[in-house]
Amino acid sequence: MKTKILVTGGTGYIGSHTAVSLIESGYEVVLIDNLSNSSKETVVGIQEITGTKPKLEVVDLTYKKQCADVFAKHNDAKGLIHFAALKAVGESVKRPLQYYYNNLSSLMNTLECTVDNQINNFIFSSSATVYGKPDNVPISEDFEMKRPFSPYGNSKKIAEEIMEDFIVSNDSLSIISLRYFNPIGAHESGIIGELPTGTPNNLMPYITQVAAGVREKLLVFGNDYPTRDGTPIRDYIHVVDLAEAHLKALKRLLDRENEKTMEVFNLGSGKGYTVLEIIHAFEKVSGKQLNYEVTARREGDVPELISLPDLANIKLQWKAKRDLSEMVKSAWEWEKKIRTKVNGE
Ligand code: NAD
Ligand code: UD1
Repeated sequence: MKTKILVTGGTGYIGSHTAVSLIESGYEVVLIDNLSNSSKETVVGIQEITGTKPKLEVVDLTYKKQCADVFAKHNDAKGLIHFAALKAVGESVKRPLQYYYNNLSSLMNTLECTVDNQINNFIFSSSATVYGKPDNVPISEDFEMKRPFSPYGNSKKIAEEIMEDFIVSNDSLSIISLRYFNPIGAHESGIIGELPTGTPNNLMPYITQVAAGVREKLLVFGNDYPTRDGTPIRDYIHVVDLAEAHLKALKRLLDRENEKTMEVFNLGSGKGYTVLEIIHAFEKVSGKQLNYEVTARREGDVPELISLPDLANIKLQWKAKRDLSEMVKSAWEWEKKIRTKVNGE
């Protein structure tokens, strides 16, 4: 019998790539999603890649009863990966309560349902945003969590604090919180990838949309930072590498190798690239010249975020393997595929 794993937010960007890795590693996967930022078509994509169609439960996890019912139905699951959340930083500034409500009530319901059904192995999607503006880089897990610059980011910091408190009185539960740096790219098949709704906030989908002719030009937010070319440095990580890290974290929990009931790991490559380096990497891979212009800094941006991924390298035996050109190439292949679909070609 296959080990059943619940994946909330499973039709989303990172959830769908993780579902593929889980299925390919022999797990039975149940996706739980309210489809607020994804489509059930993703299930077809996952089937196309893996040959297996995962079950999709359309559930809004902010509703306790819906959550309880779906968990009771799948109480033979051995673990859960909680991706479900709203993630648009700018929108969270405009609608903070919606973000706190959605991200925290769905977390609290999911935690409670997990324990009520003795599922006991819980992996959480956190973010490098919990470090706020760090005093230096690279950032290790013992750096202080600082107040993030957005309600979205703060919902991740509060989520980690909620889990720390919850675990104290629920000692059957084990949690791994994974702090992602900047996930980009798509599955090599070009069948699944990131589907930003409206204008993308993030650099990579913005670049690919400009190159595809959907947007006129990329605005580079500031070139007066104290970095090698004046643009901010980030630690970009291929989404498939990220997916594979979830498998390692899950295995650690299932094999009872965790050293504490709640562990935290950075997921990054440990390498940093500036915005201009990303643009140039894209131009090289795509053979296209990108229309861009330097403009003012974006509020809340920090000069440099680079992970120290040693803990994940050692304890999870995981390392980011895919390089920048693979990240950029897969993002571009995915963009071209979506455009072909949208244009009905
Ligand atoms: P995504 O929006 O593609 O996926 C999230 C999924 O959660 C969506 O399919 C959405 O429909 C679902 N969802 C939202 N609220 C829900 C609810 N109340 N009930 C059920 N389903 C709900 O986002 P993603 O990029 O795949 O991110 C996955 C997780 O990783 C999120 O928690 C996000 O905050 C975190 N994260 C993402 C990034 C990134 O750059 N993409 C970086 C750091 C952390
Ligand atoms: C952003 C969020 C972060 C979130 C992460 C993943 C902010 C301040 N931070 O990280 O909380 O966890 O996304 O969703 O929003 N850039 C441009 N032009 C653009 C877009 C981006 O120059 O049109 C630059 C930014 O200034 C930044 C870099 O590209 O230096 C990366 O930006 P982005 O992809 O938005 O990621 P972060 O800002 O690192």
